[in-house]
Formats: sequence, C-alpha cells, structure tokens
Amino acid sequence: MSLLTINKLTASVGAEVTGLDSESLADDTLGQAVLDALEDNGVLVFPDLHLDPEAQVAFCRRLGEVDHSSDGHHPVAGIYPVTLDKSKNSSAAYLRATFDWHIDGCTPTNDEPPQKATVLSAVQVAERGGETEFASAYGAYDELSDDEKERFASLRVVHSLEASQRRVNPDPTPEELARWRARPTHEHPLVWTHRSGRKSLVLGASADYVVGMDRDAGRALLAELLDRATGADKVYSHQWSVGDTVIWDNRGVLHRAAPYDPDSPREMLRTTVLGDEPIQ
Ligand SMILES: [Fe+2]
Repeated sequence: MSLLTINKLTASVGAEVTGLDSESLADDTLGQAVLDALEDNGVLVFPDLHLDPEAQVAFCRRLGEVDHSSDGHHPVAGIYPVTLDKSKNSSAAYLRATFDWHIDGCTPTNDEPPQKATVLSAVQVAERGGETEFASAYGAYDELSDDEKERFASLRVVHSLEASQRRVNPDPTPEELARWRARPTHEHPLVWTHRSGRKSLVLGASADYVVGMDRDAGRALLAELLDRATGADKVYSHQWSVGDTVIWDNRGVLHRAAPYDPDSPREMLRTTVLGDEPIQ
C-alpha cells in the first residue's frame, strides 16, 4: 500500500497529499516517497497537518540536509519565521522581494547550489492576500517551440541581488545599494539541464540581463518568458489556512507571495533543504 494519497491540483503544477500522520511520519520510506512526489508534481500541499516546528525540521531531514544558516531567528534550529513584522524578523524589508516570481538561491553569497526544497507551514494567515503562487519551470521549458529550444540552448543570464531588490525598491539609498552590490552576481545558463535529464528555465526576479545581447532586448526576452511561464492557466495559488504545510521543489518551480497587509499577523515557518545540484 502506498504511503501517501496524491491528487493533482492543476495540469502542470501542484498536488494535494493526504495520509501523512504520526505513523507515516515515522516510516523510513517517507523521505523517498515525498521526493518522488515532489519530482512529479513540483508542489505538495498537506492541508490541516498542524506540524509542530520540531516535527517540521525532522520531516525535512528525511529529504536532505537542513539549512542552518539563519538559525537564531526562532527557538527551534532549522526554522525561519517569514513575516513582515519587524519585531519578529529584522530582515522583513528583504522579504518584500518575494512578491515577484523567483527561484530561491540564484544569487548565493558563495557558490552554493540553489536549495533543493522549501517547506512552509502557516502559523497565522492574512485576512486578505498572502497566497503563495507556484508555476513550473520545467513546464516553462517544455512549452517552448523547437526553434526557441535551439536558440536558447546556449544563452547565459546574469543574476543579481540588486536586480531583485530594485523591483521593489527602485530608489535605494547609497547604503542599500552598497549592501546589494556586496553580494556577488552569478551567471547561469537560461536552460538548466538537471541530473535527471529534465530541463527547466532559470527565470525570475534575480535574472538581470542576457550575456552578449542588447540589455533592453535581453530583458524583454526574460520578461516575455516569465510571462508565458506564469500565465493564469499555469499557476497554482495556495490560499493558506492555519495548519497547512506546503513543500516545493525550488529547482523546478517558480514561486511568489501575493501581497498582503504588512500589519497582518501572517506568519509562516520555513525550513529549507539544501541543494546539491548546481545550475548547469
Ligand atoms: Fe522565495
């Protein structure tokens, strides 16, 4: 008997998973079952799970190595609170960039590969807005014409923290700009050929310009590809209820948060599973 019951939410991305309980959480085969379902669906939604923070970190350890770089923001190691409330999160201003479509980890401090997966659990939700939206980056590649696949095969794109921050803060102070520019830029192929053999497009807010192409023309191309990848019919939008847990494959999925009132109590607990596959 299979451990999890999986029902697709849209044609291209997202599935609802039921059957996760204290018994299956303790099952040794759970990690591989979740990773397989993630590969197939990009996003897994576990409604009404009410996973406590320790159990969330333990669950993530079954999927890979847990990121501890932001420890100290929450009493449980491996948990990072996502909120616009500055009293709970001193980096709240940076989180505004999550309102644009992106892939986490395209502009790392060093050369670490993008995160493998991210888990979010809803502690408090916004009255209005605050949905998390997902679109498949594999689907974005698969839907290209044969001619486009050929033309884009060798394109390279420069990603920067400055590009993603400028979208939400177009008039930075000199100090802000200096802080953004302190982060190294990274050049990635537009088309990521994964170890599995699947291909995805590396797009989103951090994508600044196409190497060797006129800046405006390159940016227009990146914007057009992002538009096509995130059309309404390609998106799963998760409307949060307290107790929901959602996990996504950060390597093959674009995501963003829908805006919400900064004074809302919305609070998510995030755990990140480190990646082991460079963009190539
Ligand atoms: Fe993100």
